Amino acid sequence: MRSIREAQSLRGKRVLVRADFNVPVHNGAVVNDFRIRKTLPVLRFLSGQGARTFVVSHIGENSAATLAPVAQELAKCCSTGFVRDVFSAEGKEAMERIGDGGSILFENIRMFPGEEANDDTFARRLASLADIYVNEAFSTSHREHASIVGVPCHIPAYSGIQFVSEMRHLSLALNPPHPSLVILGGIKFQTKIPLARKFLDIADRVFVGGALANPLFAAEGYQVSASVLPGDQLDVAGLLGHEHLILPQDVAGEGFVKSAEALTKHDIIRDAGPETLENLIRVVRESAFVLWNGPIGDYERGFRERNEALARAIAESSAQSIVGGGDTVASIADLGLEDRFTFVSTAGGAMVQFLSDGTLPGIEALR
Ligand code: 3PG
Repeated sequence: MRSIREAQSLRGKRVLVRADFNVPVHNGAVVNDFRIRKTLPVLRFLSGQGARTFVVSHIGENSAATLAPVAQELAKCCSTGFVRDVFSAEGKEAMERIGDGGSILFENIRMFPGEEANDDTFARRLASLADIYVNEAFSTSHREHASIVGVPCHIPAYSGIQFVSEMRHLSLALNPPHPSLVILGGIKFQTKIPLARKFLDIADRVFVGGALANPLFAAEGYQVSASVLPGDQLDVAGLLGHEHLILPQDVAGEGFVKSAEALTKHDIIRDAGPETLENLIRVVRESAFVLWNGPIGDYERGFRERNEALARAIAESSAQSIVGGGDTVASIADLGLEDRFTFVSTAGGAMVQFLSDGTLPGIEALR
């Protein structure tokens, strides 16, 4: 895999950058610019080399969502233009007008059905607009979409600057310094429970919290029927009783804190309890490496305090720390702790898939 930093003679070259500007927007304004900031180094690098850059990305849950708020953010730090349709006459004209070192952002690439379908005709058409391709969308590289896996089949392809950093840091988690701790929380049972199982063989301690712990409590015979549980059958064999597994010993909800054994059928678990937090923080302090993905409390319902205490403890520890996942990263950004971690990943689902499989479709396409 070649990094864009190794590319020769970029002056005047048309470079297609696949970015991930899928950022939260509220009332027409970007509310978390983390992914945008992490894309700036590659855009600045290309500009400095005199390349003519055009950037494509998706945003939001549907193809009608607009990147206009992202264009406004980008305009604050680089003179990037914004054009709606990459294939329109306006788009072609805009690309012809970009001078060396200039850049343009195009509207939501998922407005074209060929993108998500990974249609080869669409991929060729997109590739024909550029001389070279750069994947700076590690966080979308678990998707087999045209701008991720199709375009690199047709023109010389490179990995972006953040992309390389994501691979390097997340690979460290697969071969971590010891003693190592993995903290998995949140709600994505189907992907994270198998990941927890994998890490039991890699890490010295694996804490499973948030809603992820509920199916394990159910398997223990505790009363968790009122709490969030996976919709489909989930295999938790091999986890319970494993010497590396840590489960919350106490849990909290609206107006209660109790041990998991003492739950009644009406209790809805929303958070880890204080004893669990204290124990987890102690393990963080003893660790040389901490990987964290997914909140340990129901952040959206206001169960933030213990999650934030955990974030502070990791930030203050001497451990090498890697963190990822949309909600986890948002909580760290809210606390202003982003620079206190060794590495903050831009990825959510892609991080989990990379850790599970050791690669992603977007990585394989670059190879
Ligand atoms: C993400 O936010 O995880 C990536 O941008 C991928 O988005 P998607 O789940 O809409 O494909």
